[in-house]
Amino acid sequence: MQNIQPISQDLIYVGVSDRRTALFENVYPIPRGVSYNSYVLLDEKTALFDTTDASVASQFFENVQAALAGRRLDYVVVHHMEPDHAATLMDLMLRYPEAMVVTTAKAAQMMEQFFGSKPAQLQAVKEGDTLSLGRHNLVFTMAPMVHWPEVMMTYDTTDKVLFSADAFGTFGALSGNIFADEVNFEGEWLNDARRYFVNIVGKYGQPVQVVLKKAAALDIQMICPLHGPVWRSNLEWFIGKHDVWSRYEPEEKGVVIIYGSIYGHTEAAAMRMGTLLAQRGVKNIKAYDASRTHTSKLVAECWRASHIVLACSTYNNGIFTPVEELLHDLKAHAFQNRTWALIENGTWAPQSGKLMRAELEQMKDISIIGDTVSLKSAAAPAQEEQLATLADAIAATL
Ligand code: FEO
Repeated sequence: MQNIQPISQDLIYVGVSDRRTALFENVYPIPRGVSYNSYVLLDEKTALFDTTDASVASQFFENVQAALAGRRLDYVVVHHMEPDHAATLMDLMLRYPEAMVVTTAKAAQMMEQFFGSKPAQLQAVKEGDTLSLGRHNLVFTMAPMVHWPEVMMTYDTTDKVLFSADAFGTFGALSGNIFADEVNFEGEWLNDARRYFVNIVGKYGQPVQVVLKKAAALDIQMICPLHGPVWRSNLEWFIGKHDVWSRYEPEEKGVVIIYGSIYGHTEAAAMRMGTLLAQRGVKNIKAYDASRTHTSKLVAECWRASHIVLACSTYNNGIFTPVEELLHDLKAHAFQNRTWALIENGTWAPQSGKLMRAELEQMKDISIIGDTVSLKSAAAPAQEEQLATLADAIAATL
């Protein structure tokens, strides 16, 4: 059964939500699912904005057919060649061979790489090129490295709609409500929007800043991203979040405690630190066991908070592996500009503190507060004072 939704007078949502895939990009857990968004614009000419992941192809093609209602498809605009949006492109072209594909030259090259050929009718566009569908006039704007090099966006100057590719997207399947103002976005979606941004796009803060400056020059009434709800109100709030995230600024003054603990003694010291911080008035502390929390969530929480307490055992004379993976991922995403405090543990030769410090010092604008609290197997009673001193130092900088 088709499942299309009108978005505005001429625009129809033909995307599909996916609750079956466990791992987005085969690495990020998506317990709330994900949507692959696609839109049909009906004018004197018709246009389809992006295709979908192969996993939802059947529903997608049914939706496109329903939206066109017997009309021919004139244009297919391809904003981004990552297969979660482009895997169904060549199948679409078999169904609508008369359609002209509109995309960047780099995307056309990627089509040959992915498919071994490219669509017979292809129009390569560059920054500022336009396309009139009749009442609607489209302007194409490039968004390289947000988060692939071939990415572009489309601005409909008639209805002031920005088709933003992966930008302003989020994990999370849609449940019928297509607009962000129809769901509890801040309460139920924001954590996944942050996790999506920092893990998928977070490494490319500077290109995102370039796009945000371009967007600031446009009168945007609606944002249609490739994942998650459509934005038609409170746009400034969501754009502001992306501005903070892409500048690597903390979203909130606050403490996240992350521990890697083998038998629980490092965890006990980390949780004592939580209590000591609370006794100093620190609110909204969040603690995570790195062994039980997916790295994508830990990275997102590091992005949110201003201060991170990292407590970790020594393992094979190195950093306990879940924390080692976190530090590797943070570096890979160009993470920067945070305040850290360290607790290490080791039964015969604690090494993790020194090694964690060396990893953090490779990140930009990092500060490490106080001395590393060094445990030998478990916190000795006298070390309450060391933890308290570190808690004082953290609280003083919040
Ligand atoms: Fe949603 Fe970069 O693809």
